[in-house]
Amino acid sequence: MDIKENLLYMFENCETAISGEQLANKLNVSRNYIWKAVNALRDDGYIIDAVTNKGYYLSDKNTLFTSAGIEKHLKYNCKIQIYDSVTSTNTLAKQLADGGCDNKTVIIAREQSGGKGRLGRYFHSARGGLYMSVVLRPTLNITDTPLITVAAAVAVSRAVDKICGVSTGIKWVNDIFLNGKKICGILTQGTVNVENGSVDHVVLGIGLNINKPDDDFPKELKNIAASIYSTPINSRVQNKLIAEILNEFFAIYENMGSSDFLDEYRSRSIIIGKEVICVTEGGEFSATVKNIDNKAHLIVVDGFGKTHNLSSGEVRVKI
Ligand code: BTN
Repeated sequence: MDIKENLLYMFENCETAISGEQLANKLNVSRNYIWKAVNALRDDGYIIDAVTNKGYYLSDKNTLFTSAGIEKHLKYNCKIQIYDSVTSTNTLAKQLADGGCDNKTVIIAREQSGGKGRLGRYFHSARGGLYMSVVLRPTLNITDTPLITVAAAVAVSRAVDKICGVSTGIKWVNDIFLNGKKICGILTQGTVNVENGSVDHVVLGIGLNINKPDDDFPKELKNIAASIYSTPINSRVQNKLIAEILNEFFAIYENMGSSDFLDEYRSRSIIIGKEVICVTEGGEFSATVKNIDNKAHLIVVDGFGKTHNLSSGEVRVKI
Protein backbone atom coordinates (compact mmCIF):
# COMPACT_ATOMS: atom_id res chain seq x y z
CA MET A 1 0.00 0.00 0.00
CA ASP A 2 1.31 3.48 -0.78
CA ILE A 3 0.97 6.39 1.65
CA LYS A 4 -2.31 7.64 0.13
CA GLU A 5 -3.93 4.19 0.40
CA ASN A 6 -2.60 3.86 3.94
CA LEU A 7 -4.16 7.20 4.88
CA LEU A 8 -7.50 6.27 3.33
CA TYR A 9 -7.38 3.00 5.24
CA MET A 10 -6.82 4.90 8.50
CA PHE A 11 -9.63 7.39 7.74
CA GLU A 12 -12.09 4.65 6.77
CA ASN A 13 -11.35 2.71 9.94
CA CYS A 14 -11.49 5.64 12.40
CA GLU A 15 -14.79 6.88 13.80
CA THR A 16 -13.36 10.28 14.73
CA ALA A 17 -10.70 12.69 13.49
CA ILE A 18 -7.13 11.47 13.73
CA SER A 19 -4.23 13.83 14.33
CA GLY A 20 -1.26 14.32 12.02
CA GLU A 21 0.97 13.15 14.84
CA GLN A 22 -0.96 9.90 15.38
CA LEU A 23 -0.94 9.24 11.65
CA ALA A 24 2.78 9.96 11.43
CA ASN A 25 3.51 7.56 14.30
CA LYS A 26 1.26 4.81 12.95
CA LEU A 27 2.68 5.02 9.45
CA ASN A 28 6.23 5.67 10.57
CA VAL A 29 6.71 8.86 8.54
CA SER A 30 7.06 12.57 9.37
CA ARG A 31 4.11 14.90 10.03
CA ASN A 32 5.17 16.92 7.02
CA TYR A 33 4.93 13.79 4.86
CA ILE A 34 1.38 13.20 6.18
CA TRP A 35 0.43 16.82 5.44
CA LYS A 36 1.70 16.46 1.85
CA ALA A 37 -0.11 13.14 1.37
CA VAL A 38 -3.39 14.60 2.71
CA ASN A 39 -3.06 17.43 0.18
CA ALA A 40 -2.30 14.94 -2.59
CA LEU A 41 -5.53 13.08 -1.70
CA ARG A 42 -7.40 16.42 -1.79
CA ASP A 43 -5.93 17.03 -5.26
CA ASP A 44 -7.31 13.61 -6.26
CA GLY A 45 -10.78 14.83 -5.24
CA TYR A 46 -11.18 13.42 -1.72
CA ILE A 47 -12.74 15.85 0.74
CA ILE A 48 -10.77 15.70 3.98
CA ASP A 49 -11.73 17.98 6.86
CA ALA A 50 -9.07 19.36 9.20
CA VAL A 51 -10.71 19.67 12.63
CA THR A 52 -8.93 22.14 14.95
CA ASN A 53 -7.04 20.37 17.76
CA LYS A 54 -8.35 17.01 16.61
CA GLY A 55 -6.91 16.25 13.20
CA TYR A 56 -8.06 14.92 9.86
CA TYR A 57 -11.40 13.32 9.01
CA LEU A 58 -12.84 11.98 5.74
CA SER A 59 -15.64 14.50 5.31
CA ASP A 60 -19.31 13.56 5.17
CA LYS A 61 -19.24 15.56 1.93
CA ASN A 62 -16.71 13.19 0.38
CA THR A 63 -18.27 11.34 -2.58
CA LEU A 64 -15.33 9.20 -3.75
CA PHE A 65 -15.67 5.56 -2.71
CA THR A 66 -12.50 3.81 -1.48
CA SER A 67 -11.25 0.21 -1.46
CA ALA A 68 -10.68 0.38 2.33
CA GLY A 69 -14.24 1.64 2.82
CA ILE A 70 -15.65 -1.18 0.68
CA GLU A 71 -13.43 -3.90 2.16
CA LYS A 72 -14.48 -3.19 5.72
CA HIS A 73 -18.04 -4.32 4.85
CA LEU A 74 -17.02 -7.33 2.75
CA LYS A 75 -17.80 -10.88 3.86
CA TYR A 76 -15.72 -12.42 1.05
CA ASN A 77 -12.04 -12.27 0.30
CA CYS A 78 -12.03 -10.01 -2.77
CA LYS A 79 -9.01 -8.06 -3.97
CA ILE A 80 -10.29 -4.60 -4.87
CA GLN A 81 -8.48 -2.22 -7.21
CA ILE A 82 -9.98 1.23 -7.80
CA TYR A 83 -9.08 3.40 -10.80
CA ASP A 84 -10.24 6.91 -11.48
CA SER A 85 -10.72 6.40 -15.21
CA VAL A 86 -10.16 3.44 -17.54
CA THR A 87 -11.24 2.48 -21.05
CA SER A 88 -13.30 -0.47 -19.81
CA THR A 89 -13.06 -2.35 -16.51
CA ASN A 90 -14.07 -5.53 -18.38
CA THR A 91 -11.08 -5.15 -20.73
CA LEU A 92 -8.71 -4.49 -17.84
CA ALA A 93 -10.13 -7.39 -15.82
CA LYS A 94 -9.73 -9.73 -18.79
CA GLN A 95 -6.08 -8.70 -19.22
CA LEU A 96 -5.49 -9.41 -15.53
CA ALA A 97 -7.36 -12.73 -15.74
CA ASP A 98 -5.29 -13.78 -18.77
CA GLY A 99 -2.20 -12.89 -16.72
CA GLY A 100 -3.37 -15.27 -13.96
CA CYS A 101 -4.86 -12.89 -11.36
CA ASP A 102 -6.75 -14.36 -8.41
CA ASN A 103 -10.34 -15.50 -8.43
CA LYS A 104 -12.54 -12.65 -7.00
CA THR A 105 -10.23 -9.86 -8.20
CA VAL A 106 -12.46 -6.78 -8.48
CA ILE A 107 -11.66 -3.86 -10.78
CA ILE A 108 -13.61 -0.66 -10.16
CA ALA A 109 -13.53 2.65 -12.05
CA ARG A 110 -15.29 5.97 -11.52
CA GLU A 111 -15.45 6.60 -15.25
CA GLN A 112 -14.94 4.62 -18.48
CA SER A 113 -13.99 6.12 -21.83
CA GLY A 114 -14.97 3.00 -23.79
CA GLY A 115 -17.58 1.23 -21.66
CA LYS A 116 -18.84 -1.98 -23.30
CA GLY A 117 -22.51 -2.86 -23.37
CA ARG A 118 -24.37 -5.98 -24.48
CA LEU A 119 -24.74 -6.86 -28.15
CA GLY A 120 -21.61 -4.86 -29.05
CA ARG A 121 -23.08 -1.57 -27.86
CA TYR A 122 -21.32 1.33 -26.16
CA PHE A 123 -22.16 1.80 -22.46
CA HIS A 124 -22.38 5.41 -21.29
CA SER A 125 -19.99 5.56 -18.32
CA ALA A 126 -19.76 9.10 -16.97
CA ARG A 127 -18.76 10.01 -13.40
CA GLY A 128 -21.35 9.33 -10.73
CA GLY A 129 -21.58 5.67 -11.66
CA LEU A 130 -20.01 2.45 -10.47
CA TYR A 131 -18.16 0.53 -13.18
CA MET A 132 -17.10 -2.77 -11.71
CA SER A 133 -15.72 -6.02 -13.14
CA VAL A 134 -15.26 -9.18 -11.12
CA VAL A 135 -12.89 -11.93 -12.25
CA LEU A 136 -14.32 -15.38 -11.55
CA ARG A 137 -12.78 -18.77 -12.11
CA PRO A 138 -15.93 -20.89 -12.01
CA THR A 139 -16.10 -24.62 -11.57
CA LEU A 140 -19.56 -24.55 -13.13
CA ASN A 141 -20.59 -26.54 -16.14
CA ILE A 142 -20.16 -24.31 -19.22
CA THR A 143 -23.90 -24.47 -19.96
CA ASP A 144 -24.67 -22.99 -16.51
CA THR A 145 -22.40 -19.93 -16.84
CA PRO A 146 -25.24 -17.71 -18.17
CA LEU A 147 -26.76 -18.07 -14.68
CA ILE A 148 -23.87 -15.95 -13.34
CA THR A 149 -25.49 -12.93 -14.99
CA VAL A 150 -28.83 -13.84 -13.46
CA ALA A 151 -27.25 -14.19 -10.00
CA ALA A 152 -25.64 -10.76 -10.46
CA ALA A 153 -28.95 -9.16 -11.45
CA VAL A 154 -30.62 -10.53 -8.30
CA ALA A 155 -27.65 -9.40 -6.18
CA VAL A 156 -27.68 -5.83 -7.53
CA SER A 157 -31.45 -5.54 -7.20
CA ARG A 158 -31.37 -6.85 -3.60
CA ALA A 159 -28.42 -4.66 -2.57
CA VAL A 160 -29.83 -1.45 -4.06
CA ASP A 161 -33.20 -2.06 -2.37
CA LYS A 162 -31.57 -2.78 0.99
CA ILE A 163 -29.02 0.04 1.11
CA CYS A 164 -30.96 2.73 -0.74
CA GLY A 165 -34.49 1.90 0.49
CA VAL A 166 -36.02 1.71 -2.98
CA SER A 167 -37.81 -0.99 -4.95
CA THR A 168 -36.01 -2.12 -8.10
CA GLY A 169 -37.03 -4.72 -10.68
CA ILE A 170 -35.25 -6.81 -13.29
CA LYS A 171 -35.90 -6.70 -17.02
CA TRP A 172 -34.77 -9.94 -18.70
CA VAL A 173 -31.99 -10.69 -19.04
CA ASN A 174 -30.03 -8.42 -16.79
CA ASP A 175 -31.16 -4.80 -16.68
CA ILE A 176 -32.10 -3.32 -13.33
CA PHE A 177 -34.93 -0.82 -13.42
CA LEU A 178 -36.07 1.82 -10.94
CA ASN A 179 -39.32 3.74 -11.50
CA GLY A 180 -39.51 2.61 -15.14
CA LYS A 181 -35.93 3.54 -16.06
CA LYS A 182 -32.75 1.50 -16.37
CA ILE A 183 -30.21 2.16 -13.62
CA CYS A 184 -27.89 -0.79 -14.20
CA GLY A 185 -26.63 -3.04 -16.98
CA ILE A 186 -24.61 -6.24 -16.69
CA LEU A 187 -22.20 -7.71 -19.23
CA THR A 188 -20.66 -11.12 -18.59
CA GLN A 189 -17.81 -12.26 -20.81
CA GLY A 190 -16.23 -15.70 -20.61
CA THR A 191 -13.01 -17.27 -21.86
CA VAL A 192 -13.05 -20.95 -22.69
CA ASN A 193 -10.08 -23.26 -22.35
CA VAL A 194 -10.02 -24.70 -25.90
CA GLU A 195 -8.09 -27.81 -24.87
CA ASN A 196 -10.74 -29.22 -22.57
CA GLY A 197 -13.77 -27.03 -23.34
CA SER A 198 -14.02 -25.79 -19.74
CA VAL A 199 -14.46 -22.17 -18.65
CA ASP A 200 -11.06 -20.64 -17.85
CA HIS A 201 -12.49 -17.43 -16.40
CA VAL A 202 -15.49 -15.17 -16.50
CA VAL A 203 -15.49 -11.38 -16.24
CA LEU A 204 -18.69 -10.13 -14.68
CA GLY A 205 -19.17 -6.44 -15.51
CA ILE A 206 -21.68 -4.28 -13.66
CA GLY A 207 -22.46 -0.67 -14.58
CA LEU A 208 -24.67 1.05 -11.99
CA ASN A 209 -25.72 4.70 -12.03
CA ILE A 210 -25.44 5.65 -8.38
CA ASN A 211 -25.47 9.44 -8.27
CA LYS A 212 -25.69 11.31 -11.56
CA PRO A 213 -27.65 14.50 -12.10
CA ASP A 214 -30.65 13.95 -14.43
CA ASP A 215 -29.17 16.32 -17.01
CA ASP A 216 -25.97 14.26 -17.17
CA PHE A 217 -27.46 11.68 -19.48
CA PRO A 218 -27.09 12.16 -23.24
CA LYS A 219 -30.28 13.02 -25.14
CA GLU A 220 -30.82 9.47 -26.43
CA LEU A 221 -30.75 8.03 -22.87
CA LYS A 222 -32.76 10.71 -21.06
CA ASN A 223 -36.08 8.90 -21.24
CA ILE A 224 -34.77 5.41 -20.62
CA ALA A 225 -31.90 5.67 -18.14
CA ALA A 226 -31.71 7.07 -14.63
CA SER A 227 -29.61 7.06 -11.50
CA ILE A 228 -30.53 5.90 -7.97
CA TYR A 229 -29.80 9.40 -6.64
CA SER A 230 -29.71 12.60 -8.68
CA THR A 231 -27.50 14.47 -6.21
CA PRO A 232 -24.05 13.47 -4.91
CA ILE A 233 -24.15 11.02 -2.02
CA ASN A 234 -21.72 10.33 0.77
CA SER A 235 -18.93 7.85 0.01
CA ARG A 236 -19.82 5.80 3.10
CA VAL A 237 -23.21 4.90 1.60
CA GLN A 238 -21.55 4.11 -1.73
CA ASN A 239 -18.92 1.90 -0.08
CA LYS A 240 -21.68 -0.01 1.74
CA LEU A 241 -23.69 -0.40 -1.46
CA ILE A 242 -20.73 -1.74 -3.45
CA ALA A 243 -19.81 -4.18 -0.66
CA GLU A 244 -23.43 -5.31 -0.39
CA ILE A 245 -23.58 -6.03 -4.15
CA LEU A 246 -20.47 -8.21 -3.83
CA ASN A 247 -21.71 -9.90 -0.64
CA GLU A 248 -25.10 -10.68 -2.18
CA PHE A 249 -23.50 -11.88 -5.40
CA PHE A 250 -21.01 -14.25 -3.76
CA ALA A 251 -23.67 -15.60 -1.39
CA ILE A 252 -25.63 -16.75 -4.47
CA TYR A 253 -22.60 -17.69 -6.58
CA GLU A 254 -21.14 -19.97 -3.92
CA ASN A 255 -24.43 -21.84 -3.71
CA MET A 256 -25.47 -21.92 -7.36
CA GLY A 257 -26.86 -25.44 -6.97
CA SER A 258 -29.87 -23.99 -5.18
CA SER A 259 -32.50 -22.55 -7.50
CA ASP A 260 -33.87 -20.14 -4.87
CA PHE A 261 -32.26 -17.19 -6.62
CA LEU A 262 -34.19 -18.08 -9.78
CA ASP A 263 -37.46 -17.82 -7.85
CA GLU A 264 -36.33 -14.41 -6.66
CA TYR A 265 -35.29 -13.48 -10.22
CA ARG A 266 -38.83 -14.33 -11.38
CA SER A 267 -40.44 -12.43 -8.53
CA ARG A 268 -38.30 -9.36 -9.28
CA SER A 269 -39.10 -9.56 -13.02
CA ILE A 270 -40.94 -6.52 -14.40
CA ILE A 271 -42.00 -8.27 -17.62
CA ILE A 272 -43.78 -11.49 -16.61
CA GLY A 273 -47.38 -11.19 -17.84
CA LYS A 274 -46.53 -8.16 -20.01
CA GLU A 275 -46.80 -7.56 -23.75
CA VAL A 276 -43.28 -7.17 -25.15
CA ILE A 277 -41.40 -6.93 -28.40
CA CYS A 278 -38.82 -9.71 -28.61
CA VAL A 279 -35.62 -8.74 -30.38
CA THR A 280 -33.87 -11.92 -31.53
CA GLU A 281 -31.24 -12.78 -34.14
CA GLY A 282 -34.09 -13.95 -36.38
CA GLY A 283 -35.95 -10.62 -36.12
CA GLU A 284 -38.55 -8.87 -33.95
CA PHE A 285 -42.01 -10.06 -32.92
CA SER A 286 -44.68 -9.15 -30.38
CA ALA A 287 -45.49 -11.61 -27.63
CA THR A 288 -46.75 -12.03 -24.09
CA VAL A 289 -44.25 -13.13 -21.44
CA LYS A 290 -45.46 -16.27 -19.67
CA ASN A 291 -42.51 -17.12 -17.47
CA ILE A 292 -38.75 -17.47 -17.05
CA ASP A 293 -37.48 -21.04 -16.67
CA ASN A 294 -34.66 -22.38 -14.49
CA LYS A 295 -32.10 -21.79 -17.25
CA ALA A 296 -33.26 -18.13 -17.28
CA HIS A 297 -34.80 -18.66 -20.72
CA LEU A 298 -37.78 -16.43 -21.46
CA ILE A 299 -41.01 -18.24 -22.26
CA VAL A 300 -43.24 -16.12 -24.52
CA VAL A 301 -46.36 -16.73 -26.59
CA ASP A 302 -46.66 -14.86 -29.90
CA GLY A 303 -49.80 -13.53 -31.59
CA PHE A 304 -50.41 -16.91 -33.31
CA GLY A 305 -50.41 -18.73 -29.98
CA LYS A 306 -46.98 -20.24 -30.61
CA THR A 307 -44.68 -20.63 -27.57
CA HIS A 308 -41.05 -19.52 -27.91
CA ASN A 309 -38.22 -20.33 -25.50
CA LEU A 310 -35.65 -17.53 -25.79
CA SER A 311 -32.13 -18.08 -24.49
CA SER A 312 -30.67 -14.79 -25.74
CA GLY A 313 -31.64 -11.46 -27.23
CA GLU A 314 -33.62 -8.80 -25.45
CA VAL A 315 -37.13 -7.46 -25.04
CA ARG A 316 -38.69 -4.04 -25.25
CA VAL A 317 -41.72 -3.44 -23.10
CA LYS A 318 -44.72 -2.26 -25.18
CA ILE A 319 -46.28 1.00 -24.07
C1 BTN B 1 -25.62 -3.36 -20.97
O1 BTN B 1 -26.56 -2.87 -20.35
O2 BTN B 1 -25.59 -3.38 -22.21
C2 BTN B 1 -24.46 -3.94 -20.21
C3 BTN B 1 -23.59 -2.87 -19.67
C4 BTN B 1 -22.42 -3.37 -18.84
C5 BTN B 1 -21.54 -2.22 -18.40
C6 BTN B 1 -20.47 -2.64 -17.45
S1 BTN B 1 -19.69 -1.26 -16.69
C7 BTN B 1 -18.46 -2.27 -16.05
C8 BTN B 1 -18.08 -3.24 -17.14
N1 BTN B 1 -17.12 -2.65 -18.04
C9 BTN B 1 -17.61 -2.49 -19.27
O3 BTN B 1 -16.97 -2.01 -20.22
N2 BTN B 1 -18.87 -2.92 -19.33
C10 BTN B 1 -19.31 -3.43 -18.05
